[in-house]
Amino acid sequence: MDLLLFQKILLSLIFAIVVVSKLRGKRFTNLPPGPFPYPIFGSWIEIGNNLDQLILSNYAKKFGNLFRVKMGQLNIIVISSKELAKEVFLTRGVEFGSRSRNIVYDIFTGEGQDMIFTEYGEHWRKMKRIATVPFFTKKSVQQYHGAWEAEAAAVVEDVKKNKEAATNGIVLRMRLQLMVYNNLYKSMFDKRFESEEDPLYVRVKDLNGQRSKLGLSLEYNFGDFVPILRPFIKGYLKICKEVTATRLNLFKDHFIDERKKLISTGGREINKCGIDYLFEAQEKGEINDAHVCYIVENMNIAAIGTTVWALEWAIAELINNPHIQNKLRAEIKSVLGPTAQVTEPDNQKLPYLQAVIKETLRFRTIVPLLLPHMNPENTKLGGYDIPARSRILVNAWHIFNDPANWKKPEEFRPERFLEEESNVEVNGNDVKYFPFGMGRRSCPGMLSSMAVLGITLGRLVQNFEMLPPPGQDKIDMTAVNVQFGMYLFKHSTVVLKPIIMS
Ligand code: HEM
Repeated sequence: MDLLLFQKILLSLIFAIVVVSKLRGKRFTNLPPGPFPYPIFGSWIEIGNNLDQLILSNYAKKFGNLFRVKMGQLNIIVISSKELAKEVFLTRGVEFGSRSRNIVYDIFTGEGQDMIFTEYGEHWRKMKRIATVPFFTKKSVQQYHGAWEAEAAAVVEDVKKNKEAATNGIVLRMRLQLMVYNNLYKSMFDKRFESEEDPLYVRVKDLNGQRSKLGLSLEYNFGDFVPILRPFIKGYLKICKEVTATRLNLFKDHFIDERKKLISTGGREINKCGIDYLFEAQEKGEINDAHVCYIVENMNIAAIGTTVWALEWAIAELINNPHIQNKLRAEIKSVLGPTAQVTEPDNQKLPYLQAVIKETLRFRTIVPLLLPHMNPENTKLGGYDIPARSRILVNAWHIFNDPANWKKPEEFRPERFLEEESNVEVNGNDVKYFPFGMGRRSCPGMLSSMAVLGITLGRLVQNFEMLPPPGQDKIDMTAVNVQFGMYLFKHSTVVLKPIIMS
């Protein structure tokens, strides 16, 4: 094709897109304010790929608590007030209860055959109902907390055995990650990995890691937002497809099929675990092979990274605030005595421990924009037109750190949850604080996460004085903002000096 003809085609294409988008825009007379949307690219020209809670928080100061960022063809509606969050999640939870998937998550989830990224409706209800009994109820916490306590005890033992821990320090994250895997795999497959070197663990962790890295990166945003730039992420999407296929096959071959084999040979001898409930639903014809696999994939993603990030932030805060660490240790000692180790039922008796966890989830909001919601139909919100299939982002980080909602929000002060905010729980009972979301699409893993965080942090503080590594007086708290999360940039080395129990 000669160059002139190519230029003409390209110009006509751009002209057509501009005209179509102008005509489309005309249907809405009162769109929310926001940064200027350039033709074709929208505000991507101004913002680029890094659409995170800090950038969106600054825009809220300029455009208000409800604004629109047009990225390519995609309308992103950003909400930064507790009142509007309540409206979207609770009052009009069905209307805004779907998910907006980006192009990479379309690949990961077989276009929404899973539970987390599927639209609100029959399929979501069925997947959620089937997964609830084995994974998300109080009863499941009662069933598994003994195993979680044993895993936390194993962490304490391993750290005590490692002489480096008390001197130069260790990157505790690696050991905590194994613990969180074991917590999940116990409830899902009645299985645990013996050590960080277990070849199957290495394989699962590697593939989950690759999937997380690919999904969480902000670098592919341009190709998701602006369809004409999609060819530039073709290679990236190909890798996403390959990793997805390898990973789902690994779950199937090494865990799902293995379990089926065990059931067929072991009869009633074996302990019933989460996956067995999924098999029952499959036998009744409610779900198929792929759905079973997608629930396993969802649990691997939702339950592990979040819990490890939360533990890491909490440990770092306790190290940087030794008076809080000491106060927590004193609480545990005065309630449980000198030697008894924290168990799940003790969590209720340890208000300061709960306050430390709540403050960590407020100040270091693990999922700062929650997961994206979506409205399948045109609607109105806050008096503005909201076009169908907008991506709805609620800036939880902004709401949790807004001086209009909190006294000195810039301070890490667990006491606030025992004093002026003593009625505020993690379940969104007060709409200014919802670390696990609110309403229909909120996190069903809240009960188990709070149990695991309490057991693990409690036992670490009981058994160790936690300190920064030699030569440092603080842990570096630089954060990395990713697609659906915020984690500590340097998975820091920490010193853990055993405390002699007496
Ligand atoms: C500290 C740990 C955790 C935090 C902070 C957290 C936070 C969240 C948030 C903010 C959402 C999205 C809510 C929304 O979009 O409205 C979510 C969804 C979800 N979480 Fe968690 N989560 C954690 C741990 C877990 C665990 C341990 C599990 C599983 C046992 C889990 C399973 C899920 C699932 C399945 C969803 C999707 C719910 C749906 O779309 O219906 N999460 N989580």
